[in-house]
Amino acid sequence: MDKEKILAGREFMKDYARAKVDWEQTDQAKGVEVPPTEVRMPKGLTRYFLEPFEELGDVFENMDIRRVIEERRTRRKYTGDKLSFGQLSGLLWASAGYRQPVKKKLRHVPSAGNRQPIEVYAIVMDSDDIPPGVYRYVPSQHALDLISDNADGLRDRAIAATRGQVWAGTAGVTFAFAAVPYRTEWRYDYTAHRVILMDVGHMCQNLYLAATSMGLGACAMAAYDQDLADHLIGVDGEEQFTVYMCSVGVIAEEE
Ligand SMILES: Cc1cc2nc3c(=O)[nH]c(=O)nc-3n(C[C@H](O)[C@H](O)[C@H](O)COP(=O)(O)O)c2cc1C
Repeated sequence: MDKEKILAGREFMKDYARAKVDWEQTDQAKGVEVPPTEVRMPKGLTRYFLEPFEELGDVFENMDIRRVIEERRTRRKYTGDKLSFGQLSGLLWASAGYRQPVKKKLRHVPSAGNRQPIEVYAIVMDSDDIPPGVYRYVPSQHALDLISDNADGLRDRAIAATRGQVWAGTAGVTFAFAAVPYRTEWRYDYTAHRVILMDVGHMCQNLYLAATSMGLGACAMAAYDQDLADHLIGVDGEEQFTVYMCSVGVIAEEE
């Protein structure tokens, strides 16, 4: 093991850096315009509006929180069946949706300084309601923007992007969480990166809990091929890049 790198990694996990940052030199302190909490996409993309928040009730099985927590586990064996549009809507509502009524752009997941640095992409393998392809969730609209409708070998590309994790391809939808670090750096300078990774953990946990309450299976994936994953969801790898992925599918059998 590389002791030096281990020590550097441990330092990164600690919160000493907060005391070292020059807080008068952050972009926020210098009056630089606050970055938007949603990526501005090129005009002309096809947008699909998800089921309105008010109509989501019946996709959740009204399990109490204790049962959801008890039953949540990682599941990797899926039938390959599609998810319903309501299920997809509920998963995105839980992991990245705005709390209603929208106040101060708060969402269902906590985020350091409410900077909300994570964009959620849905790799939809199959659906009755929207073409298979890669989508970006638009939280303010509760909608999906179609990034790519290239369905050729989509399941295989999702598997390759996760270094051969088959469940990323047999899932109904595989989600990719991509960080836009500047949103958090604007306020927290180089202490941002530690909390960005905490933020994404919260999002993925809500995804797990929502999937569990719908009787679906989820598998978080921190192991992925950085370049293939970024390429699959169409991000540049610098200002925005994948930090976590999660498959969600119809459970095939008990593991
Ligand atoms: C940060 C993180 C990264 C993970 N990465 C992977 C992964 O790349 N592939 C995978 O199959 N499971 C992955 N998992 C799932 C864990 O293996 C799983 O949570 C663990 O075995 C405990 O099982 P449980 O979730 O059923 O309680 C990950 C979980 C977490 C929290």
